[in-house]
Amino acid sequence: MNNLHVIVLAAGQGKRMLSESAKVMVPLAGKPLLHHVLDTIGELKPTKIYVVVGYAKDDVIDACADYDVQWVEQKEQLGTGHAVAQAMPHIPDNATVLIVYGDTPLIRSTTLTSLFPPLTETGGLAMLVGELDDPSGYGRVVRSADGQVQRIIEHKDASEDVRRIKEINTGIYASLARNLKSWIGMIGNQNAQGEQYLTDIVEMAVAESHPVHDQPCRESETHGVNTPAELARCESTLRQRQTNTLMNQGVRICDPARIDIRGELHCGKNVYIDVNCVFEGNVRLGDNTVVGPNNVLSNCDIGAGTHIKPSCVLEDAAIGDDCEIGPFCRIRPLTTIEDQVRLGSFVEVKRSTIGPSSTAKHFSYIGDTDMGASVNIGAGTVTCDYDGHEKHRTIIESGAFIGSGAMLIAPVRVGTRAFIGAGSVITKDAPGEKLTLSRSEQQTV
Ligand code: UD1
Ligand code: MG
Repeated sequence: MNNLHVIVLAAGQGKRMLSESAKVMVPLAGKPLLHHVLDTIGELKPTKIYVVVGYAKDDVIDACADYDVQWVEQKEQLGTGHAVAQAMPHIPDNATVLIVYGDTPLIRSTTLTSLFPPLTETGGLAMLVGELDDPSGYGRVVRSADGQVQRIIEHKDASEDVRRIKEINTGIYASLARNLKSWIGMIGNQNAQGEQYLTDIVEMAVAESHPVHDQPCRESETHGVNTPAELARCESTLRQRQTNTLMNQGVRICDPARIDIRGELHCGKNVYIDVNCVFEGNVRLGDNTVVGPNNVLSNCDIGAGTHIKPSCVLEDAAIGDDCEIGPFCRIRPLTTIEDQVRLGSFVEVKRSTIGPSSTAKHFSYIGDTDMGASVNIGAGTVTCDYDGHEKHRTIIESGAFIGSGAMLIAPVRVGTRAFIGAGSVITKDAPGEKLTLSRSEQQTV
């Protein structure tokens, strides 16, 4: 659609969320509701996007710094019609205007584009309508005996009879700017909420004999977020969409209701994901990876054939092929783990590189460390990287064997194929190929 101008309404507080922050900033699958809407609109490649903001507007604008939009302020939230009125003066008369609510995050771009062909043919007003089993709270679509849309009646203004109507207004409209400007100018506030309802434009279009094109919208796309319960329902709808896409690509998900994808999850072939896993940001799972139960992976790249065993937390890490991680491992940011590494229970790694085929299988802290290949870290080993003021690095060269319970006081270097005796406190560099130990003599008294 050429000359398409989109208005997004995002000025309301969202009182029914009972929260201080602006409703459109509430995260759904890891990103604010408004980002979902703006991402979808972006797919339409519009000429311009106007976002009407008011409540907590600085927070909203800051959170959307990456989007190319024009901000329009609605100083007082006098209703959806009033919100649209703030944007209209910026829009040329011959533009096509699409109006979308910032609290309707599941709408798809293909559904939005279905509004345009009838408009191009005969003009008038195009709107998306849906059917809901439980339509309470929504504006109802009132039709004449011959089935033509007559008007929208808000739930709060509706009689018992009207409340039984299951067909609802999604809040998404398209029309020529010239018509919209004239209708918006006529909206009053004689209703139960004393607000300027955008929905009144439907009645006005009908009165002026403009065609009103009601396009159907799938139930799963119509859901608005007004309450925490509605937010949870949207999470579950989105989860279904995400897991269906992954399963259609061959990913085996143990239980599609017990996984959360808060960002992008890219999977190779033959991937298996057990229950209660959370994926945040950008996560890639290579071919044949297995993610066991209760894992949290944020911004990770997991190599082919790697097994993440139960209950690990992995953050900003790159993990190579054929590794075994966990159970109960914590991998912190700026960590690179190369191929065939085995990290076992209660091992924490931070800002380190672990070379290929190295192992640390029990109770260790590896921080600020550069580790070579085939290193063995005994149980309970700690790289002491912090002296109270600064962090220092530990270097452990390939083939080194660190006995259990060693404290490596950084900065320190352990040479190639060096042995460190169990229980040693190592404060000076330990040469390669030799046994180094520091241990007080055993006494029996
Ligand atoms: C609105 C519709 C209702 C529809 C439902 C679909 C009206 C009067 N009602 O009701 O018919 O079924 O959406 O989800 O339009 N906003 C502003 N400024 C304002 C008021 C609201 O920008 O002064 C924004 C809000 O931030 C929100 C959107 O407009 O993103 C919708 O407002 P909301 O209060 O959620 O309307 P609903 O009661 O859901
Ligand atoms: Mg709403």
